[in-house]
Amino acid sequence: MTQNIVLVGFMGTGKTAVAHALTQKIHWNLVDTDELVEQSEQKKISEIFSEHGEEYFRDAESRVIREVMQKDKQIVSTGGGAVLREANREHMLNSGWVIALLADAATIIQRIKQDVHRPLLEGDLDEKVIRLLKERRNAYDFAHEHIDTSRYTIDEIAEMILEQFDRYDMLYDAPL
Ligand code: S3P
Repeated sequence: MTQNIVLVGFMGTGKTAVAHALTQKIHWNLVDTDELVEQSEQKKISEIFSEHGEEYFRDAESRVIREVMQKDKQIVSTGGGAVLREANREHMLNSGWVIALLADAATIIQRIKQDVHRPLLEGDLDEKVIRLLKERRNAYDFAHEHIDTSRYTIDEIAEMILEQFDRYDMLYDAPL
């Protein structure tokens, strides 16, 4: 049964903005797994990476995802790498309708150019984005739906998701 709407996708694909738009429309709880990791660790993500390394961050992220997915009626925005662990993917699929937001490299680079808080993109931004996108080529395939965000506004994407969600929910006999 679908209990949550879960947004996955590479950095800069619009997960946070779309999650906010969805919450305004259906008034479910807005949950951001990056924020929950920061709260539980009492540190910014960049500090967690620099002080403890990526694996430590991934462990904290997995704990957060496991906990979040036990609740329902949430719009969940996940970090771009939350899909890398199979256990995380399973938790998402089992308790939510998972939507992958996609965008091409140029759009992603344009969107995150001003943003300095992403540890995995420090250095040559273009090179890092292109390399990571290649590494994660199939990482978002597991989602129930895929939406290319380069072509639509935030509001259009939110509307599309809700339309599809209605249809999906009827299909699986799990009314809102
Ligand atoms: C990451 C994406 C970030 C954050 C962390 C790692 C990734 O989240 O979780 O910096 O591995 O793609 P956003 O996708 O919200 O930027």
